[in-house]
Amino acid sequence: MDSILVKGGGELHGQIPIAGAKNAALAQMPATLLCAEPLTLTNVPRLTDIRTMTRLLESLGTIVSQRDDSRTLELQTPEITDHKADYDIVRQMRASILVLGPMLARDGHAVVSLPGGCAIGARPVDLHLKGLEALGAELELRDGYVHARARGGLRGGTFVFPFVSVGATENLLMAASLCKGTTVLKNAAREPEIVDLARCLRAMGAHIDGEGSATLTIEGVDSLHAASHTVVTDRIELGTYMLAPAFTGGRVELLGGRLELVQAFAAKLSEAGVDIEETGNSLIVSRKNGRVSAVDVVTAPHPGFPTDLQAQMMALLCIAEGTSVLEERIFENRFMHAPELIRMGAVIDVHGGTATVTGVDKLRGAPVMATDLRASVSLILAGLAAKGETVVSRVYHLDRGYERVEEKLSACGATIERVHADG
Ligand code: UD1
Repeated sequence: MDSILVKGGGELHGQIPIAGAKNAALAQMPATLLCAEPLTLTNVPRLTDIRTMTRLLESLGTIVSQRDDSRTLELQTPEITDHKADYDIVRQMRASILVLGPMLARDGHAVVSLPGGCAIGARPVDLHLKGLEALGAELELRDGYVHARARGGLRGGTFVFPFVSVGATENLLMAASLCKGTTVLKNAAREPEIVDLARCLRAMGAHIDGEGSATLTIEGVDSLHAASHTVVTDRIELGTYMLAPAFTGGRVELLGGRLELVQAFAAKLSEAGVDIEETGNSLIVSRKNGRVSAVDVVTAPHPGFPTDLQAQMMALLCIAEGTSVLEERIFENRFMHAPELIRMGAVIDVHGGTATVTGVDKLRGAPVMATDLRASVSLILAGLAAKGETVVSRVYHLDRGYERVEEKLSACGATIERVHADG
């Protein structure tokens, strides 16, 4: 298994291009199941999760071809040839559940494995299922699979989410696009990935109103058509690399970055003493002297502080001046990076969903283990500022969500390399 070796010390200076959003692309790819004509997605990141979704869609009958530098995917599903999403693929990636709504909407039936738990909590899919029931689906859970049927097709309805779910909003948005009649989704997620999915579906001919607000109104249409869509910039990759110069000092330009994608996060970073400048086509982040200051963070659905940047922010606060309190309100059990950071000399006290971080002057390099995607990158960032060498193992998590981390950081002067398992 590969690992990443980081040697701490030295400022970062340079440019980092930010890729298209993994979570946006993973939600848009299943939209191909809604229609027989091709869907062309550009700015798709090159990641393991994208390949997993490609394999899943191919197993259902989608023809997937790559163009250019493999950042353009053409997806076409003339017909769904198999309506069963198998456990073997679904268990590898929760986003697989997003094929349920589209298959049901197009053909009136689908069988999808339940994703099961994952490292950051139980993560049920009950809201996806309740929402589809509100659109007329009949569901049965059997042998670990959801067996879904909509006799006579799905019909529009109103569904009020009891709490905000990104994935469930995406599943319902796709299903509602082909429903008979109007669907109203209340307390819907407002994440940029939802806005981007709505844009993609609209390009395919869907009638959607209100994306980016808590109420989505979808006027169902009989069929969708061919479309081309460019995937939005990855705000989590952007935020992650915005943190890098905050750890090391220096000045890094994030190409393609826009403040509107990371408002709440950028506000916290500024509060900690990091300078952020928007140029129109990039963000320039710099930290001149001294340590950053402690700040308190509470994760929340968009437009709040994203849970997907909590681990990376915690790593920074480990070397801040003062004591910070981080509250994780989206996922239980999302502090698995804390014990690893403690191995590097951090002072962190976790009680349930709250972590109290007392900043230390310096972290020390250590062998550490990645437990999930965002945790693994937080350890790399910590390694950039630590004294000595940090080896992060189990980097397959990292490859699910970050393209060429070691290349992007070493281009800015970091000492970082991938060590292949066999040498
Ligand atoms: C998506 C992202 C994930 C990100 C998260 C929050 C993808 C593939 N994944 O995950 O990277 O961390 O948003 O931004 O885009 N919940 C239920 N029942 C449900 C659905 C969710 O109880 O049916 C709970 C979850 O366990 C969690 C909360 O609701 O506590 C929010 O989950 P949700 O926004 O749905 O996250 P995901 O779509 O799983």
